[in-house]
Amino acid sequence: MTKISKIMTGISIGLVLASPIAIADITLRNAITGETLDMSFAKKGGDTDAFKQFMKDGKNPYNDNKEIIEKGKSLYMTGCSGCHGHEAEGKLGPGLADDYWTYPRNSTDQGLFETLFGGANGMMGPQYVNFNTDEMLQIMSFLRSIYTGDKSKAEWLKQ
Ligand code: HEC
Repeated sequence: MTKISKIMTGISIGLVLASPIAIADITLRNAITGETLDMSFAKKGGDTDAFKQFMKDGKNPYNDNKEIIEKGKSLYMTGCSGCHGHEAEGKLGPGLADDYWTYPRNSTDQGLFETLFGGANGMMGPQYVNFNTDEMLQIMSFLRSIYTGDKSKAEWLKQ
């Protein structure tokens, strides 16, 4: 190999290696196993601008958005309240509006999304079966809006 072709090969390998990193944002992991979540299970229609934004920094762009919170509330009532209670006070599953988390990462938006998408133990199955990723962000914004816990423990506000 000539010197120049070695350099060219080096550059192309470099580009191949660098390109996923350049667009890589956050890595989503299963709340229990820590394995990377397989986003190919995602339902259609969830890859919105808001979700793309979320994938960059792990912050939910829908937090504090009144209109979205209302939508999130109705999705929560359909898909979550049966197990977590109408005010997320806890029922079969734990309360989701206070500052106690079985999985402390749920006090960050990324952690909460990971639990929704990938599920946790037992009855808490992966929610990608019922909701697309944008809808999950909507539900999350509703849950943050009814938070009754200590503000200093609300990691999502500090991100
Ligand atoms: C069939 C019942 C069921 C449904 C439906 C359900 N969950 Fe759960 N959820 C549970 C149970 C049980 C747990 C406890 C699992 C564990 O500890 O690993 C749980 C755990 C969680 C946790 C972790 C809480 C913590 O303290 O760390 C979050 C967050 C959560 N659920 C959110 C939701 C949301 C949002 C929905 C609707 C999209 C939903 N769940 C739907 C039963 C359910």
